[in-house]
Amino acid sequence: MKFDKRIVAPSLIAADFSKIGDEVARASGGGGDWLHLDVMDGHFVDNISFGPVLIQSVRGNSGIFLDVHLMITRPDHYLPRFVAAGADGITVHVEAPHEVAQTLRRIRQAGLQAGLALNPATPVEAALPYLDQIDLLLCMTVVPGFGGQAFMPAVLEKIQAAAALRAGRGLDFHIQVDGGIDPVTAARCAAAGANVMVAGSATFGADDMAAAIRQIRNA
Ligand code: DX5
Ligand code: ZN
Repeated sequence: MKFDKRIVAPSLIAADFSKIGDEVARASGGGGDWLHLDVMDGHFVDNISFGPVLIQSVRGNSGIFLDVHLMITRPDHYLPRFVAAGADGITVHVEAPHEVAQTLRRIRQAGLQAGLALNPATPVEAALPYLDQIDLLLCMTVVPGFGGQAFMPAVLEKIQAAAALRAGRGLDFHIQVDGGIDPVTAARCAAAGANVMVAGSATFGADDMAAAIRQIRNA
């Protein structure tokens, strides 16, 4: 089962962008399993981060699994550029305007792991039509757009419901959480059924990233 294993994914959004190569090395050297890449377009969320050019540079310098989270409108339009940049997994939002089933199909056809993201206010039912098309369900634990926000405990119920749906249907997708994840909130999410922990501030913000990752892994 995919979801038997705890995966820790440091989020690059919290890195020092003036030394990005060193920061990526700090994440992988510190034991990060995946590198989470938050792509924000200033439309789907009220912030602008980075795009395929940066991801391609990271790909050229690191073998770490690149977990690309597209917080953009029309992810279907930009998809080929993120595939070409070297993403290993691409997650798209159910709330964005695109043909969700078709976009997910295209991600898998490109040989990548397909993820579907739900904002905190979006019920798990919104993912129902797509559950057999995904390798990962992302339950946002903050309103997306900015790092460093407080974890929203109300999302725990949705994680439990997603895990129950997965078991009921005999499916095998990861459940990922993103936003306000630290050792304490990671433990709560894991108890609810999540296995992939995205953490920005709690990893890149730590003096000892290896210790921070270990704490989230063992929480
Ligand atoms: C929200 C981003 C953040 C980020 C994690 O738009 O997706 O959740 O990855 O940042 P922290 O861990 O600082 O909340
Ligand atoms: Zn994210």
